[in-house]
Amino acid sequence: MSQPYYITTAINYPNGRPHIGHAYEAIAADVIARFHRAQGRDVFFQTGTDEHGLKMAQAARSEGVEPIEMADRMVSIFKEMDDLLDISYDRFIRTTEPAHHAASQAIWRAMAEKGDLYLGRYEGWYSVRDEAFYEESELTGGEGGEKLSPQGTPVEWTVEESWFFKLSAYQDRLLKLYAEQPDFILPESRRNEVLRFVEGGLQDLSVSRTSFDWGVPVPDSPGHVMYVWLDALTNYITGVGYPDRGEQWQRYWPADLHLIGKDVVRFHAVYWPAFLMSADLPLPKHVFGHGHVLLRGEKMSKSAGNVVDPLKLARRFGTDALRYFLMREISFGQDGSYSEEAIVTRCNAELANSFGNLAQRTFSMIGKNLDGVLPPAGEASDDATLLEQVRSAGETLTREFERLSFSSGLDAWMGAVFACNAYVDTQAPWALKKSDPERMAAVLGTLAFAVELLTQAVVPVIPSSAARLLAYIEEGRASGRIAAPQPLFPRLELEEAAA
Ligand code: MSP
Repeated sequence: MSQPYYITTAINYPNGRPHIGHAYEAIAADVIARFHRAQGRDVFFQTGTDEHGLKMAQAARSEGVEPIEMADRMVSIFKEMDDLLDISYDRFIRTTEPAHHAASQAIWRAMAEKGDLYLGRYEGWYSVRDEAFYEESELTGGEGGEKLSPQGTPVEWTVEESWFFKLSAYQDRLLKLYAEQPDFILPESRRNEVLRFVEGGLQDLSVSRTSFDWGVPVPDSPGHVMYVWLDALTNYITGVGYPDRGEQWQRYWPADLHLIGKDVVRFHAVYWPAFLMSADLPLPKHVFGHGHVLLRGEKMSKSAGNVVDPLKLARRFGTDALRYFLMREISFGQDGSYSEEAIVTRCNAELANSFGNLAQRTFSMIGKNLDGVLPPAGEASDDATLLEQVRSAGETLTREFERLSFSSGLDAWMGAVFACNAYVDTQAPWALKKSDPERMAAVLGTLAFAVELLTQAVVPVIPSSAARLLAYIEEGRASGRIAAPQPLFPRLELEEAAA
């Protein structure tokens, strides 16, 4: 049986429409899932929505609807985004599902049995936007003197009866985990932040709320709903069959990778492993905190009015172009910037003019000069050198993708595309038609093979165009004659230019 690989994204708050950050994370996770499937692994890929908590309750109230109505409406848009972006998830989990309530209550009971939960009174700062508790020392002052969380969101003083989790008792075990598994938190910079935070000492964590009721009820404690992050994190085990722990659980837990954004690393790298330790459950292997996508270097926000709808971007530029751009442009783990100009420039230069044009030239010359019959690759030393370059770029891409360095993997891939185009120019097959038709066929055969290898390598990033091109080549081979090629990547234009 093939090796299992369980990857998750963060589950999104459906309190508004998806933005480019949600699209970015879904695309990156999908590239990883497709890459591991292509390596022969048995992948389980889960994504979904985080529907409880004060933030959802408040957003729904401000629109005069029930939280579940808002969630239902937004979930269908998140799913539409996933479909449009070709996100090949195996499970889309919603935290309002009954199975998830059962799992959350089961982990709660396990933590209670361990003696890690006690009833108390929370007095402190809370950010509804982050759904997070902060210590006074972490806060900063806003321009008007108001207090802000380290993420720059407003905080409010909160006093209520609450259950607490003895997080403070887990400091040593967490530090031991980070020391023994140095790649538990990736990349290195995020690991250092977490280390500093945990070394500074941990306070017990408030894990229930009594001032509203939109959440998973705490077992045997009327009036308490679970802190939304306790329920949200549990989604990762609900999805593979906790608490029954059947076949899926045996096969996929612990997860290989929780892919999340840098703003939610603390929850995944501190609280989540502590909850799992408390419940005596195995810990995930890796937590990777990717960077944020910025619009021309600026943070996007509803108030700044610069939130871009990823569905619109995908419809306008094409799903594969958007996927390729995000994976190629941003060094994974770091923040990155995007703009429509940057998408157009990069996709035109690399997908349309380099890769697309290479395929187009190759197959139209085979159509015109060889009646569409695909020749075998040549055996001259130039041919072997080119194919070796292409193979070695494929190996580099595999190695880089294994360590989630997508942009450098694609950089190597692009290098091989350039090498192929340079080979076309030096071999000048069009000039060989009269003088040396055999050599022309060898050159075109070499190119066709190179294009096929390059296409196979890039399937995880541009799945639909790559599948189309591979099916086209396959069809040409099966029928003995390749059809006239259709352009794969139309040249993109900016709106002003198009108008
Ligand atoms: N519901 C929580 C996650 C719970 S996971 C158990 C949450 N939701 S979110 O909708 O605010 O964010 C979902 C994911 O998108 C998070 O991983 C977050 O870091 C990521 N991003 C949010 N804004 C982003 C960018 N601008 N760029 C890239 N990723 C961003 O947090």
